[in-house]
Amino acid sequence: RYRDPDAAEKMNPFAEQEAWEEHQIGKANLKFGSKDRKSRSDDYQFVFEDQIEFIKAAVMDGVNVDQEPSTDSIEKTMANSAFEKLQEDRKTLPMYPYRDDLLQAVNDHQVLVIVGETGSGKTTQIPQYLHEAGYTKRGKASPIALAASEEPQEGEYRRQNICLSQGHVSQEMNIWVLGTFLPIGCTQPRRVAAMSVAARVSQEMGVKLGHEVGYSIRFEDCTSEKTILKYMTDGMLLREFLGEPDLASYSVIMVDEAHERTLSTDILFGLDISRFRPDLKLLISSATLDAEKFSDYFDCAPIFKIPGRRFPVEIHYTKAPEADYLDAAVVTALQIHVTQPPGDGDILIFLTGQEEIETAEEIIKHRIKGLGTKIAELIICPIYANLPTELQAKIFEPTPEGARKVVLATNIAETSLTIDGIKYVIDPGFSKMKSYNPRTGMESLLVAPISKASANQRAGRSGRTGPGKCFRLYTAYNYMNDLEDNTVPEIQRTNLANVVLSLKSLGIHDLLNFDFMDPPPAEALLKALELLFALSALNKLGELTKVGRRMAEFPLDPMLSKMIVASDKYKCSDEIISIAAMLSVGNSIFYRPKDKQVHADNARMNFHVGNVGDHIALLKVRFLMITTLFWHIIFLVYSSWRETNFSTQWCYENYIQVRSMKRARDIRDQLEGLLERVEIELTSNDNDYEAIKKAITSGFFPHSAKLQKNGSYRTIKHPQTVNVHPSSGLAQVLPRWVVYHELVLTTKEYMRQVVHLFPLIFLFLISFSVTLAVMIHRDFNWGLSWQVTELKPDWLVEIAPHYYQLKDVEDSSSKKMPRGTGRAS
Ligand code: CDP
Ligand code: MG
Repeated sequence: RYRDPDAAEKMNPFAEQEAWEEHQIGKANLKFGSKDRKSRSDDYQFVFEDQIEFIKAAVMDGVNVDQEPSTDSIEKTMANSAFEKLQEDRKTLPMYPYRDDLLQAVNDHQVLVIVGETGSGKTTQIPQYLHEAGYTKRGKASPIALAASEEPQEGEYRRQNICLSQGHVSQEMNIWVLGTFLPIGCTQPRRVAAMSVAARVSQEMGVKLGHEVGYSIRFEDCTSEKTILKYMTDGMLLREFLGEPDLASYSVIMVDEAHERTLSTDILFGLDISRFRPDLKLLISSATLDAEKFSDYFDCAPIFKIPGRRFPVEIHYTKAPEADYLDAAVVTALQIHVTQPPGDGDILIFLTGQEEIETAEEIIKHRIKGLGTKIAELIICPIYANLPTELQAKIFEPTPEGARKVVLATNIAETSLTIDGIKYVIDPGFSKMKSYNPRTGMESLLVAPISKASANQRAGRSGRTGPGKCFRLYTAYNYMNDLEDNTVPEIQRTNLANVVLSLKSLGIHDLLNFDFMDPPPAEALLKALELLFALSALNKLGELTKVGRRMAEFPLDPMLSKMIVASDKYKCSDEIISIAAMLSVGNSIFYRPKDKQVHADNARMNFHVGNVGDHIALLKVRFLMITTLFWHIIFLVYSSWRETNFSTQWCYENYIQVRSMKRARDIRDQLEGLLERVEIELTSNDNDYEAIKKAITSGFFPHSAKLQKNGSYRTIKHPQTVNVHPSSGLAQVLPRWVVYHELVLTTKEYMRQVVHLFPLIFLFLISFSVTLAVMIHRDFNWGLSWQVTELKPDWLVEIAPHYYQLKDVEDSSSKKMPRGTGRAS
């Protein structure tokens, strides 16, 4: 192993060659047989001439060939002592004693179900064990290697340095091999988990993140040609599968956190990814014991159990339901902190999302100040999906002597991430869940009670290193009677349009008979087909159309993809991909520091607020979220930023999050690349807002709504009343006809009601707020008032004649909207 990259450079006779190859063999442009390469391979020909047969034989056998793909450029990223400490730590994990047994089991079976308590080392260790055991090397079943003098056919050939040994003589050489080393892919349901686990494993292996160990999440690929351990979201693996159905570039796929039963994981299972490749190992790992279900599904695949170490956990319930669980959680945490000696253990609080976590952080900081200076230090560590990468590492840092850590986490800390040193868990009993109503086609994220299984996982987090305590902020009665046993798999409570489009593009037509582990409601499938048909992605026979094929190339929701595909017709793809990118960043574009709220708001617009209490402040945040989604605003933000040449200063001045903007720019770049792939020209239609609006309408016409006399909206297709949040101050300026991006719950209020009515919770159907009214007509002025005008309702008929009929959109004076009749079938 070379410590000094420069020295490696000098010692490696092929360095120049490799640099050249790296340049040549990018993922996208495999160019072979160029004149340039030929002349170079001729230079090296003498090395191989007499050994070609031997190399071929040796490489095909997979023996005697000691490939060192990853070592020549390994840079140690940390001091040796820290590195060795990590190696020692690895050996203390519950997984370690079973290393050899596990490797044996993987060797013996193609599909293996692995079950082990969270924190036993499944995610971080198993891929490393497999790598150490040689799974990342080219397997025996892989096709031939070519000597450098031979011309490879088009394909995934790579130039590789290999070391041949014959007796005691060994020689290094450079040949073309097919799939020289095959990475191990490990899927995670959450992006943060993929990123943080990859960071951890790269440390344990002493390599730079993104080199030998990397991660791949939507719109962010932190891997390289060298990557042998690749952590990715399950959604990314699904997308890769679309492009490469035999997953030929992997030696092992580990579907981790299978118990979470995310949509993508379930689809990957249904596709039976191991079927086409007898040499592909498929590991399914789960933290819970219902592994029999996975085993049954995979034709009785053997189950490998890693005995967990769990210390007893004392469980405390509240006597009565908590009116405000956030407050109760904070009070409980502070009580623990004040009454228990510091150094005795850290606290973990489960909350539902970023906003709640930020609020909790504020309240804790505020109250700690009030407790005076005698209190031991309390370090607050938030963790949620959008937390900036730099801050993610903080939760894993050991707590300093005399201090205590309180981790504020979403249910990402339930099984995906293990934080050492937690002794107290505070569980309010809620998490954010997607839910979908196939009848109305409405999807929403709502705060809902967790399941018993989740509650038990959460409690278990406190008993990892010693006896722990779990404080449940609900009653024992609630636990027994109101909580479901298990969380409903995502596939049964989500919009399936995206999945159906993917499956169709894989050539899977008979969706009703697709081998789902738990089938989704037939109604949801039909709804998805109906939507795709309306978007012209499918024809009447349910076959993928050219539009659908193009749409499937974009890793976006079908309506967004359709909007992009339609921008071709309206000659505004440049603007539309900016809008799509900004929408994909979500609601973290505007920055609203607590101490400069007024300035931040003024910088954006003036809107009226009453008294700025905590509650109103939160509502304002919500309002901002609503406004960020006005396409006109986000488009102006993006294009103004682009005009300043992506200036950071400009972002500061306008209270805009640089990080989000950079992410939007990245996404935009990728979308631009995809445009090329589907042969859509990048065209700008300067200031022709009508064209932009029409393109947006082409994607979002199923989401159209009309203003009612009372200020609420009524959706047109499946009539449903949706409310704009009353505090938003939007009422005066709402356009008569809108298409919206998505409907979001007014969570805060919902939650407050819900806590009082805990047992009734499942009956709660909530008021929605419109988050994207896309039709703003007049020019928008920064910091000044702005106006919105109607979408022309006849566009709906013009753009989607198969979906809307004139009578749907006629401006009748009657209050009742006519029911849609031009329903797609
Ligand atoms: O996957 P499983 O829950 O079985 O365990 P793991 O995620 O592989 O975690 C094994 C150990 O690595 C735990 O002690 C974690 O605290 C540690 N770890 C860490 O320190 N930093 C990370 N980003 C991930 C894991
Ligand atoms: Mg894990």
